[in-house]
Amino acid sequence: MRDAEVSERLLDWYDANARVMPWRVGPAERRAGVRPDPYRIWLSEVMLQQTTVAAVQKYFRRFTARWPGVADLAAAEDAEVMAEWAGLGYYARARNLLKCARAVVSDHHGRFPETSAALRTLPGIGPYTAAAIAAIAFDEAATVVDGNVERVVARLFAVEEPLPGVKPRLTELATRLTPAERPGDHAQAMMDLGATICTPRSPACGICPLVADCQGRAAGVAASVPRKAPKPAKPERRGIAYVAIRSDGAVLLERRPDSGLLGGMLGWPGTAWAEPEPAPAPPLAADWSEAPVPVRHTFTHFHLTLRVMTATVPDDIAPDRGSFHPRAAFRPASLPTVMRKVFDATRPVEARLFRR
Ligand code: ADE
Repeated sequence: MRDAEVSERLLDWYDANARVMPWRVGPAERRAGVRPDPYRIWLSEVMLQQTTVAAVQKYFRRFTARWPGVADLAAAEDAEVMAEWAGLGYYARARNLLKCARAVVSDHHGRFPETSAALRTLPGIGPYTAAAIAAIAFDEAATVVDGNVERVVARLFAVEEPLPGVKPRLTELATRLTPAERPGDHAQAMMDLGATICTPRSPACGICPLVADCQGRAAGVAASVPRKAPKPAKPERRGIAYVAIRSDGAVLLERRPDSGLLGGMLGWPGTAWAEPEPAPAPPLAADWSEAPVPVRHTFTHFHLTLRVMTATVPDDIAPDRGSFHPRAAFRPASLPTVMRKVFDATRPVEARLFRR
């Protein structure tokens, strides 16, 4: 297999099959001289580290409608950005997003630096994101390696050693394939191929542009690589969340400490999350009753089961913790997902079906 021929075949395939994405400048436009907007590439790549291309679109459109450029985002209120990010998870990323936008404005005259080395000096921009922005927005011959690319490369070269140990080897092989011409389109082509044809289970080898080059296919291991070393099981934690609702409809919320899980986000007051379940810690004295079904949520490092206690309380009550938010100003969708699940658990099924 000649690496240059592989990347040429891949680019031909991309020219005909590139997926359309709201931040992407497609191959035809790119050829006509249209340059991608680094702000939109950066924003999309940070979001794509959280979830799928399909799920990101809604968030991307809302962010860019509200904050069309990096200076707009830099000037935004922290709480508004956190609320728009809610649901994407891993809130440290959203805080870094703001820090990065502000650093671009204050240290780089409002323009993203154009090399991966300079991009890496910005808050929240690691090797992956720096390479993706440099390649896609500035056509630097940087090699972009995400899970899709690891899979494509492991198959193409029939690499049978397991992840994560084999990562450096896969990066090296991906680097060999990166062309000097059109490295941005190459990076996007690798990711599109991994997402649409060279998929984790049952890859569509019959329509793959690289099938003739694929050593994994020839060796009959395409669908079973990259192998993964078994992960240690996630521990279980437990806790109790308290949903206090005043008779005028206001809800009791508490801002979480800036550092730590869901740092700086609004949530329901509650106990710490631990195993075994911590002692009850209600934010005010009330006649609490337990919701019939507890909430289950999985974080990066543990599974959580939360019992949900609810109470209706008088309008003049003073809570020990948190503050009441008027019902009209309360949007459940702006809470972190686990907190939104807690709210849903307090409500009858019909209310959940017609969530506003
Ligand atoms: N996944 C993450 N970034 C991507 C991109 N730029 N193109 C396709 N898939 C992606």
